[in-house]
Amino acid sequence: MSDPLATAEEARQNLSAALDPTRRSTLGQFFTPPATARLMASMSTLLRQRVRLLDAGAGVGALTAAWTAEICSRPVRPKEVVLTAYELDETLLPALRRTLTACEQACSAVGITCKWEVRATDFIEAVVEALDVGLFQTEHPLFDVAILNPPYRKFRAESRTRQLLRRLNIETSNLYTAFLALVVLLLDDGGELVAITPRSFCNGPYFRPFRQHLLRHVNLSRLHVFEARDHAFRDDEVLQENVILRAVKSVPQQSRVCISQSRTPDDPIRVQRDVPFERVVHPRDPQGFIHLVPDDDGHALAEAMETLPCTLDELRLCVSTGRVVDFRARQWLRTKPTSGTVPLIYPTHFDNGLVRWPKPATKKPNAIVHNTDSAPLMVPAGVYVLVRRFSAKEERRRVVAAVFDPDTVSCEVVGFENHLNYFHERGAPLDRTLARGLSAFLNCSPLDAYFRQFNGHTQVNATDLRSLRYPRRSTLVALGRRVQGALPAQDNLDAIVAETLKEH
Ligand SMILES: C[S@@+](CC[C@H](N)C(=O)[O-])C[C@H]1O[C@@H](n2cnc3c(N)ncnc32)[C@H](O)[C@@H]1O
Repeated sequence: MSDPLATAEEARQNLSAALDPTRRSTLGQFFTPPATARLMASMSTLLRQRVRLLDAGAGVGALTAAWTAEICSRPVRPKEVVLTAYELDETLLPALRRTLTACEQACSAVGITCKWEVRATDFIEAVVEALDVGLFQTEHPLFDVAILNPPYRKFRAESRTRQLLRRLNIETSNLYTAFLALVVLLLDDGGELVAITPRSFCNGPYFRPFRQHLLRHVNLSRLHVFEARDHAFRDDEVLQENVILRAVKSVPQQSRVCISQSRTPDDPIRVQRDVPFERVVHPRDPQGFIHLVPDDDGHALAEAMETLPCTLDELRLCVSTGRVVDFRARQWLRTKPTSGTVPLIYPTHFDNGLVRWPKPATKKPNAIVHNTDSAPLMVPAGVYVLVRRFSAKEERRRVVAAVFDPDTVSCEVVGFENHLNYFHERGAPLDRTLARGLSAFLNCSPLDAYFRQFNGHTQVNATDLRSLRYPRRSTLVALGRRVQGALPAQDNLDAIVAETLKEH
């Protein structure tokens, strides 16, 4: 019997080395390996007599092939399937057609009628045009199932793609969310979406309109994550954290969402649990972050962190992003402090919970000229807690904080570079002991582990820090009394934070 997934896999193997790398990156071409494709197909559970399947950005058709193989192997099958594959890259079309022919043969072997069509066109352009002029019913019939691994690429605010999407009130700046946003519009009522995408849409503030759009049109029924970050697209050396999402069109949001996890797509599912929807998307969270908490320990941790007593606002604290964007302030940057300059602080100045400045051996400037033009970029000297905004994938910690203290970095005003966030008391500096306690709390392991549950990338946004809950002011001050100077070893710090939180 014809094996459509083997046909797609042969094409993937042959093309992987042959494709032009620039074109690959422009078109976001990372093809799904068989184990991931099979796992995704197994999550498609919709059963109808006639199933119209959409594969948007089909590549060589791995996902359609895995889905077809899956439904052909089931005891209860549809009578007819109609496969529609959109693919822009002409060089992939012969292989895609071979895969779809193999799908047709596999279906025919088990008595399913199979029709297929390749649409060699830009998916976004075609769908926006059709939806916008109301040709939808004739040109773009609805689909029952959409299975996709959409292309990943950012596009600019002024790009044609962005303008096209705006015609449908879709605000997003990445191809993958654009594809998903359109796909949910094309699904029939009760229709099913299974997609593998980066996890970044779950929290980034830029993805907020997309999350709202997604949750308005579909209900989340399953989220699957991998423990090992690099396996879903191993052959392409993609180091993204990915999520597989299953969602159903229109029906009211079900009360529980299945969250599952496997080490890699080849491994068995290690954890699977039904989590109340309000734990996945907190009802009072204006950002609508999507929390992925697969195991019991993670669940207990989330519970503990989310029941801390205070929001940042209740603590009367704020967090902002450093105002000095170095490449825009180039004319004022200086390697070393000289007269007329003030300290410019980067994450490179962090040293075990403190800021050490100036740093002799660093490629980053240590100082910025202070004049009337640069003055708006500065903040008044005082104690602040700084948090690094970016970390490398392999780094142990995501959230790294340090206390800036003018007692060790003498100055009247200071520049915080844009690669860091800083906590302040509504524009004014912080009390020193409070700052030490806040920094200790931000540097503890449970906070880092909790942060990773909703933040799947390496960026720590001010919005993420605003969405956390914090201990009371008095608890932070008590903590600050116990952690003075450089941070103790991580285990000690964690023990001190745990004890202090328990006592207060
Ligand atoms: C991440 S790859 C995934 C391919 C395939 N779905 C798979 O899982 O192996 C995304 C595919 O979308 C195609 N693509 C990119 N932009 C597109 C567009 N605007 N319209 C249609 N296809 C597009 C790329 O050429 C690429 O084959």
